[in-house]
Amino acid sequence: MRGLKNKVIIITGAASGIGKATALRFAEEGAKVAVADFGDGTATVNEVTANGGEAVYVNVNVTDTDSVKAMVEKVVAVFGKVDVLINNAGITKDAMMKKMTREAWDAVINVNLTGVFNCTSAVLPYMLEQKSGVVLTSSSVVGIYGNLGQTNYAATKWGVIGMTKSWAKEMARNGLRFNCVAPGFIGTDMVKKIPEQVLQEKILVKVPAGRLGEPEEIAAAFAFLASDDAKFINGTVLSVDGACTL
Ligand code: CAA
Ligand code: NAI
Repeated sequence: MRGLKNKVIIITGAASGIGKATALRFAEEGAKVAVADFGDGTATVNEVTANGGEAVYVNVNVTDTDSVKAMVEKVVAVFGKVDVLINNAGITKDAMMKKMTREAWDAVINVNLTGVFNCTSAVLPYMLEQKSGVVLTSSSVVGIYGNLGQTNYAATKWGVIGMTKSWAKEMARNGLRFNCVAPGFIGTDMVKKIPEQVLQEKILVKVPAGRLGEPEEIAAAFAFLASDDAKFINGTVLSVDGACTL
């Protein structure tokens, strides 16, 4: 990919799954990576370093504005700037609507929606000042098409699309880009929580590719959208889902 060398990338939720694969991919492209997670991100950092890349672990809770502000300040202190934010941290608390509690609603909204607001707000002053920057956010096939048991999660993954499009309209003139990636079902811890019978008989049968996606396949989409190869792509949603939405 063009233009990623020496760029500074913050990836939230980079201790595991898609975020970890994305950290490894950006480091491979020559970028400097901040592995931001409230879980332990040292394994991701160690893997990046072992491959000859550059990374730092930053402990953050994306729901907490002070913690997010400290994250961005630490990244700027270590690497001098921030070029790309990848809003990847996310959780599920699935239940059919008739059983969904207010607690499950609030928890998912706080991380997947307010967390995206918090992290984007915190990097904007730096990006606006330098008149360049890219913010990429994890949506989902579930945000676009809905899913049984995911009222809260679907609301957030549709919500981030609206936020992304609004930001592109507001700030394309400032040299900033905002896009979403909408993964299908990807083989990470998140998908392991789906009852096996539901996964096999209700979900995978509808994926023409016939398999779960791999975290690296989402990482590749993030790398493309962050790169100069995508410099006129703004306010869009890239589906990476093995055709499961057709
Ligand atoms: N798609 C289609 N059918 C589903 C379904 C789904 N995702 N989830 C449940 N069903 C079906 C079940 O097969 C079952 O059908 P039958 O009555 O014909 O047997 C019916 O709905 C009721 O399901 P349960 O008996 O399991 O109901 P429950 O109340 O005990 O549990 C649930 C409900 C918590 C939603 C549980 O079924 C579940 O976890 N389902 C999976 C939900 C899901 O797809 N989550 C995605 C997580 S991965 C992710 O979110 C990443 C991403 O962006 C794609
Ligand atoms: P994962 O569960 O493997 O990783 C999520 C990471 O986010 C974890 O390391 C966790 O510690 C971190 N995190 C959670 N809450 C946080 C918080 N408050 N502050 C900081 N970090 C926090 O999940 P996965 O699958 O890698 O998901 C990554 C993103 O991709 C999520 O936004 C998810 O919704 C999205 N996605 C995943 C799909 C899948 O099928 N796995 C499909 C579509 C979207």
